Amino acid sequence: MAATKTLVLGVSGSIAAYRAADIAREFMRAGYSVRVCLTDSAQKFVLPALFEGLTGNPCLVDTFEEPITGRMAHIDWARQCDAVVIAPATANTINKIAAGVGDDMLTTIALATDRPLFIAPAMNPNMYSHEATQAAIQALTERGVEFIQPVEGDVACGENGQGKLASIAEIVTFVRDHLDTPALLAGKHILITSGPTQEPIDDVRYLTNRSSGKMGSALAAAALQMGATVTVVAGPQKAPLPKGAHVIRVQTAEEMLAATKSVANPDWVIGAAAVADYRPANRIKGKMRRESNEIALELVANPDVLAEIVKHHPNALALAFAAEPDDNLEKATEKMKRKGVIGIAVNDVSNTAIGFDSDQNELTLLLQDGTRKQSGRQSKTACAKWLLTQLVELEKSRV
Ligand code: CTP
Repeated sequence: MAATKTLVLGVSGSIAAYRAADIAREFMRAGYSVRVCLTDSAQKFVLPALFEGLTGNPCLVDTFEEPITGRMAHIDWARQCDAVVIAPATANTINKIAAGVGDDMLTTIALATDRPLFIAPAMNPNMYSHEATQAAIQALTERGVEFIQPVEGDVACGENGQGKLASIAEIVTFVRDHLDTPALLAGKHILITSGPTQEPIDDVRYLTNRSSGKMGSALAAAALQMGATVTVVAGPQKAPLPKGAHVIRVQTAEEMLAATKSVANPDWVIGAAAVADYRPANRIKGKMRRESNEIALELVANPDVLAEIVKHHPNALALAFAAEPDDNLEKATEKMKRKGVIGIAVNDVSNTAIGFDSDQNELTLLLQDGTRKQSGRQSKTACAKWLLTQLVELEKSRV
C-alpha cells in the first residue's frame, strides 16, 4: 500500500475559516494525514483545539512554537509534508507570500517549503480583483503555486462577485488530481500554441481577439502534471503559464509559425491559440494620423500555423481547437479535415459561462473517424486533463 501523504493545511483569517474543519476532514477521508496551521486572525474565527481534536496532530499558530523541543517546527513541517494547502487564503496572506514576508508560522512554512503549494483564496470581491492581489497571484502562479479559483456569489460582507471560497469538493479534488495524477504522458514532448496573436497596424495599434490564453495554460499545466515535457508558443496572453513549461513568447501569427517550426520533434501538437487570420498588409511606421472620416485597412491572410506544423511534423499527433459562435459542428468537422489533424476540440463561445475569459469550458471532441465525445462542463484544468486522457486513449488504439 502507498504511504500516507501528509498535507499542511494553512488557515487564514477569512470568515470562510469556519469551513476549514470540513476541508481537513475531507482530506482525511481522502486518505491524507493533515497538520493544521492557523494565522493569528484565523484564531478569531476558529481555535487550535478544534483541529487538534479532528486531526490528532498539533495545530500551530505561533512561529516559535516547538511541539518537539529543539526542533524548528516551521522547517520540520515544511520538509515533512507532501504539499501545503492554504484554504481559505486572505489577500493579506497571499500578498505576504508573494512578497517573501514570513512573519507568522503559516507564511514561514510557505516560504520554507519546496513542496507544491496550493492556495484557495476567499475574500471580498474588491480585495480579490485589486491590482495588488492579482499581481501577487500572477507572480506566485509563475513560481509554480496552484490557485483554486474563488467562485462568484454572495460573500459574507453582503456584496456579490468573485471571492467566495471554492467548494470543499473542488479544493480536495484539485489537490488530489495534482498529487495523485498518473504519469500517463511520461516521455512525451507536447507542443502547445496558446493565447491570441497581435497584428500591428502601426507602432501603437494592432488587430487581436479576445483569447485569454486560459485554455492553453490549463493544457500546459495538465500535461506537466501528467509527466510530459511541455513547450508553449504563447501570444501576448493574460493567463500566466505554469512553471516547468518551456515558453516561447511571440506577438504575431508569422512569429508563432517560426517559433513552432523551431521546436524539435514534438510527439503531440495542440493548437489552442486563437491566431488572427489576417494581418494589415503594410505596417505603418510611427502613428497613423486621423486625416479623414473613412479609411480602408488592407489585410492579407496569415499562415495557418497548425496546418503548417502538421506538414512540418507529419508524425506528431495533432489536435486543433475551434471556438464556434454556435453549436453547429459542421464547420469544425470541415476545419479538422482541412488542417490534417486527428481531432478538433470544439467549444461554443456564444455561451458566456464557458466562452472567452471564463474559467470553465465544455468541449466536444470530434475525431477523424467520426467519433464524438463530450467533456461536460468543468473547469478548464479538468477539461484539459480530460482532453489529454482522450488523446492517450486514442494513441493507444492506433498502435
Ligand atoms: N489556427 C492556426 N492558425 C491560423 C488559424 C487557426 O493555427 N491562422 C488553429 C487554431 O489554433 C485552432 C484551429 O486552427 O487550433 C482552428 O482555429 P479557428 O480560428 O477556429 O479556425 P480557422 O481555421 O481560422 O477558420 P475560421 O476563421 O473560418 O473559423
